[in-house]
Amino acid sequence: MAIEKVGVAGCGLMGSGIAQVCAQAGFPTVVREVNEALVEKGLKGIEKNLDRLVEKGTLTAGERDAARGRLKGTTKIEDLAGADIVIEAIVEQLGAKREFWKTLEPGCGKHTIFASNTSSLSITEMAMGTGRPQRFVGMHFFNPVPVMKLVEVIRTIATEEAAYEEACAFGQRLGKTAVKTTDRPGFIVNRLLVPFLLDAIRALEEGVGTIEDIDNSMKLGAGHPMGPLTLLDFVGHDTTYSIANIMFEEFKEKRFAPPALLKRMVLAGWNGRKSGKGFYDYSDPKNPKAVKLL
Ligand code: 3HC
Repeated sequence: MAIEKVGVAGCGLMGSGIAQVCAQAGFPTVVREVNEALVEKGLKGIEKNLDRLVEKGTLTAGERDAARGRLKGTTKIEDLAGADIVIEAIVEQLGAKREFWKTLEPGCGKHTIFASNTSSLSITEMAMGTGRPQRFVGMHFFNPVPVMKLVEVIRTIATEEAAYEEACAFGQRLGKTAVKTTDRPGFIVNRLLVPFLLDAIRALEEGVGTIEDIDNSMKLGAGHPMGPLTLLDFVGHDTTYSIANIMFEEFKEKRFAPPALLKRMVLAGWNGRKSGKGFYDYSDPKNPKAVKLL
């Protein structure tokens, strides 16, 4: 059965990006947040993004209005129940996610696919808390969702072939390249990206280079769009710290262990761009300045 209607749980950074991409791809999309203020904030962000695309000539005003018209914000979980696929992008806590699926499920049709955007929690563990582990997948998007062309589609040992293929085809219909992967922490991208980011912190700790020199080296010497320390600030240190811990717990390999400096920065609340300070100070967001750390 082809997916026609979409539900998105969470309208933060990832949820709003996912909802925007679904609406732009032509799907009627209901996006849910826990209160009106967060619904409004998320939708305003999407409107701003769509306006920017019109200014750049990527979208016509008509296409923007049509995409916006396909989006509906709500605070009620039951408003997601009519969707053919529900993508969950709420807080990265297993308990909260399991509670969400439990509340949603009774109103949903048997065919509805449940998809979590988690970056590191176990899809299997989440799926087994529902009555439909066979129609439960992971769909892991990347920040900023409207720009990044990838979605990782994750199957568990309990996912049925039909649901998995539908989810992969849906990812392609969103204009993303859907790569297939299995339920191991980090999937493909974070399995490779996180040790690299942690190594950049270790290099800084060891005095191999300054913050700017490490970033410039990977930008100019390896063609990365952002240096690793800038990317860490962009992703959020609390997020990387949590992903690294989950991966270390699973694989017990040193390369996944968060360096002491990352832990100290999280403890200090220097979580990167969103908190105004990380490896860079964002007091002037257009002109971030490397901070003095050691
Ligand atoms: N929302 C929508 N569009 C955005 C955007 C946003 N938040 N930020 C930038 N853009 C658009 C810009 O409008 C611009 O569009 P255009 O080419 O059509 O004009 C384009 O992206 C490029 O933006 P800029 O020229 O302003 O800046 P950059 O060239 O530096 O690109 C970037 C910004 C796309 C963020 C680029 O630096 C990049 O690709 N960085 C790496 C991002 C990355 O690695 N993300 C994955 C993180 S890991 C993750 O998400 C997984 C999780 O589990 C941790």
